[in-house]
Amino acid sequence: MKKTLRIVSGVCNSVNPAGCFSNVRNWIEAEKKLPPIEDGPRSVLILGCSGGYGMGARISAAFGAGARTLGVSFERQPTVRKKGTPGWYNNHAFDMASAEAGLFSETLLGDAFSNVTREAVIERVKKNGMGAFDLVIYSLASPMRTDPVSGVTYRSIIKPTGKKLTGSTLDVATGKMTDVSFDPATEDEIASTVKVMGGEDWKLWIEALQGADMLAHDAKTIALSYIGPDATHAIYRSGTLGKAKEHLEATAAEINELISKKRGSAYVSVNRALVTRASVVIPIMSAYLCALNKVLKAKGLNENCHEQMSRLLRDRLYGSDPVVAVDEKGRIRLDDWEMREDVQVETASILERLTPDNVEKLTDWAGCSDELFGLFGFSPADRA
Ligand SMILES: NC(=O)c1ccc[n+]([C@@H]2O[C@H](COP(=O)([O-])OP(=O)(O)OC[C@H]3O[C@@H](n4cnc5c(N)ncnc54)[C@H](O)[C@@H]3O)[C@@H](O)[C@H]2O)c1
Repeated sequence: MKKTLRIVSGVCNSVNPAGCFSNVRNWIEAEKKLPPIEDGPRSVLILGCSGGYGMGARISAAFGAGARTLGVSFERQPTVRKKGTPGWYNNHAFDMASAEAGLFSETLLGDAFSNVTREAVIERVKKNGMGAFDLVIYSLASPMRTDPVSGVTYRSIIKPTGKKLTGSTLDVATGKMTDVSFDPATEDEIASTVKVMGGEDWKLWIEALQGADMLAHDAKTIALSYIGPDATHAIYRSGTLGKAKEHLEATAAEINELISKKRGSAYVSVNRALVTRASVVIPIMSAYLCALNKVLKAKGLNENCHEQMSRLLRDRLYGSDPVVAVDEKGRIRLDDWEMREDVQVETASILERLTPDNVEKLTDWAGCSDELFGLFGFSPADRA
């Protein structure tokens, strides 16, 4: 009998390893069809490599630029009794495809927030001969972080700040819309979220790599952020997560200072909203995401995580133009298509008319739901 697939709080009750393998293979095949990245990176560290934006970046660096890659992620490997997490199969698929293509890759499972993992990465690089990193992608999304010095564990909390928020949220797995309300976060909750999703750990990584002489001359490092439109500001940009992203963005300036002696540079890339394991648990954002996807698809502007990261490497960080285009705050903007005026006007119009009865008609809920189950390796046919 077929198991009924369910996703609750972004976690599915099953995993299809073969589907995870083909997801990764599909992104690799898409990357291989593009022209090679000119003067691209050669040795790349990806923190948060097993899915979403981290996997997209890893595929582009390896299969677009021929880079050696080392990835770190927090995933559970399969045991005799239990399947692993989707990211474990994704990593395995990536390593297998890299080996077939003659590309060096190594993947470590561990808590990227810990000094033990930092030391393990440095030890691996000393032994494996991949050479100092010329690109470090910081793509972690986590609900908690233990401070490596104090040992205190902090949790990220998704809440508005300043005042109470009421609105509608859409369960991407089921299409069900419900009313939600959130009290504003306390100062402690804001500080805790900044500890987890802000820039402190990114800076610790760069300090550790620089201290061990593992950062190449001219190295680049990138962390990812999100801004979004007014409709999502209360829950995201001016909420606890936004405070963490402001901290991350401010940290880019500190890291720049740190690595500028060797002509290194740190950037925050503001990416588009997409269905990933991290994003679907953000209330209110989900309705926006399904409406946005409908508009972007109709305009031929829809990109997945791999396409976004491929554009980042190809058009922004490397290639013929040595100047990296940034906004007035020094950020790379890959949310340019999402934030286009016509896209935002049409998305806002959908959200104004959205009710629990017209979700399927007005939004791309069905497509987003397929993408969400796809993250666990399931196709629409598996769910029929
Ligand atoms: N998805 C979006 O809509 C969106 C938009 C803009 C920016 N971003 C940002 O992109 C970044 C990546 O998010 P994503 O959506 O790709 O998430 P994701 O859930 O797909 O990937 C998160 C990665 O972090 C790893 N990870 C989590 N905790 C870890 C730990 N303790 N140690 C090691 N690895 C750990 C996971 O294993 C996974 O590889 C985040 O900073 C997020 O805020 C996401």
